[in-house]
Amino acid sequence: GVVVGKRVKSRRKWKRVMGVLRELEEGCETTVSRLRQVVDAMAVEMHAGLASEGGSKLKMLLTFVDNLPTGSEKGIYYALDLGGTNFRVLRVQLGGQRSSILSSDVERQPIPPELMTGTSEDLFDFIASALQQFVEKEGNGSEPPPIRRRELGFTFSFPVKQTSVSSGILIKWTKGFAIESMVGQEVAESLQRALDKRGLDMRVAALVNDTVGTLALGHYHDEDTVAAVIIGTGTNACYLERTDAIIKCQGLLTTSGGMVVNMEWGNFWSSHLPRTSYDIDLDAESPNPNDQGFEKMISGMYLGDIVRRVILRMSEESDIFGPASSRLSMPFILRTPLMAAMHEDDSPELTEVARILNDVLEIPDVPLKVRKLIVKICDVVTRRAARLAAAGIVGILKKIGRDGSGGISSGRSRSDIRMRRTVVAIEGGLYSSYTLFREYLHEALTDILGDDIAQHVILKVTEDGSGIGAALLAASHSSYSVDTVQ
Ligand code: GLC
Repeated sequence: GVVVGKRVKSRRKWKRVMGVLRELEEGCETTVSRLRQVVDAMAVEMHAGLASEGGSKLKMLLTFVDNLPTGSEKGIYYALDLGGTNFRVLRVQLGGQRSSILSSDVERQPIPPELMTGTSEDLFDFIASALQQFVEKEGNGSEPPPIRRRELGFTFSFPVKQTSVSSGILIKWTKGFAIESMVGQEVAESLQRALDKRGLDMRVAALVNDTVGTLALGHYHDEDTVAAVIIGTGTNACYLERTDAIIKCQGLLTTSGGMVVNMEWGNFWSSHLPRTSYDIDLDAESPNPNDQGFEKMISGMYLGDIVRRVILRMSEESDIFGPASSRLSMPFILRTPLMAAMHEDDSPELTEVARILNDVLEIPDVPLKVRKLIVKICDVVTRRAARLAAAGIVGILKKIGRDGSGGISSGRSRSDIRMRRTVVAIEGGLYSSYTLFREYLHEALTDILGDDIAQHVILKVTEDGSGIGAALLAASHSSYSVDTVQ
C-alpha cells in the first residue's frame, strides 16, 4: 500500500509539472503564421512611427547620420561605448582606404552596478576617468599620440532624441539603468563637461546608438549592408530609410536622400506577440513596467529570469526540486549566459545543468529527468526569443522592400523579382555566443521568407561594431577635413 501510494503521488506531481510545461509551450508558440503577423505588425508600426511623433510605440528616432562611412576616413579616432553590462574605450586608426582599419585597441570594464542608479556626474566622471587612463597609456605604446585635439565617437545605447549628429537628449533609460535626473538632459554635453573637468582635450564629434555604430561598421566593410541589429543585454535595430518616407519630419533634406533611423524596437508591441504569465510578472516587477515589451521577451537581460520564474512555479507546484530554495525567488540570479550553458550542455549526464542548479540556485541532487526538464524550459524560452527577433528583422526587410514580396503596387509576381543581396549587420552576445539562439533565428528567417528569398539575406557579425563604428562616424563628421588630418 505504501509503495503504491508513493507512486501515485509521484505520478500526480509529474502531471502537475508537465501541465506547467505544456502551458509554457503553448504560451510561447511561434508558428510561422503567427510570426508573419508579427512581421506585418512591425512594418505597420514602423510606418506609424515615421508618420508622426508618438504615432507608435516604435519611436523611429532620427539619427542625423545621412552618410555612412565611405572608407576614405583617415587618422586616429576614439570611441566610448556605454550601454550594456560592459563599458568600452577604443582607439581606431584609419588608413584612408576601404577596410583599412589599421589598428584598434579596446579596453573593457564592467560598469559598477551602483553607478547605473546613482548620479549622472558620478557615471560620466567614471567614464571620463577610464578614457583619461586609456589616453595616458598611449604615449608608452608604439604609436605617437596625436598632435591635434582628439575626436570621439560616443556610443550611448539608450533612446536619445537627437538634435544633430553629435547632440541629443535622453528620452528614458532601459536595461536597468535608472538615473532619473539624467532624463531630458543633453547626453554629449554631460560627457563633454566631465572631459573638460579632467582637462582632457577631446571633442564629442558623434553621439550614436550602438545599432548605428554597428551599421556604420557593417557598411564600411560591405556596401550592401542596409540594417543593423543588436541582441545583447537589450535588443534594438536601425536601418537606412529614404528621407521622403520620414513623414514626421517634412522638409528634411540630406545629400544622400536617406537617413539612418534608430527604431528602438525593444519597445515594439503587438497583440500577436506570444505572451505568458511569466512575461507579465517580469514586466510588472521590472524598474520600467509597460515598457520595452519586445526586449523583455528577447534580450539577454531577461531570458534567464523568465527561466527562473518557470522553475520557481514548478517548485511551487511540486517537490521535484526538493525543499524550496530561497535563491529561486531572487530576481536576475539566473543570468542568461548560465542559462545558455545549461541549454547547451551536451554531456550525457547533464553535469553542467546539475552544477549550475546546485551552485547558483542552491538546488542539489536533481535527478536526470528533472535536469532534462530544465534544458527543455531553456529551449522553449530561447526559441521564442530567437524567432521573434527573426520576425523583427523580416519586418524591416518588408518595410524597405527586401522581403521578396516586391511591394504592393509593383504588380510583379514573386518569381519575377530578382532579390538583391541584403546584408544585416548583427552584434551582441545572444547571437554571437549562443549557438542555439543563432540557429533558431536562422531557421525562423527561412521559415518566414522561404529558401529562395532567405538565401539573399546575409546576417554578418560585426565584432566591436558599435564602438569601431562610432569612431568611424566621428571621423566622417570630424571638424577636420579628410585631407588635412595626419
Ligand atoms: C536598449 C536601448 C537601445 C539599445 C539596445 C541594445 O533597447 O534602449 O537604445 O540599442 O538596448 O543595446
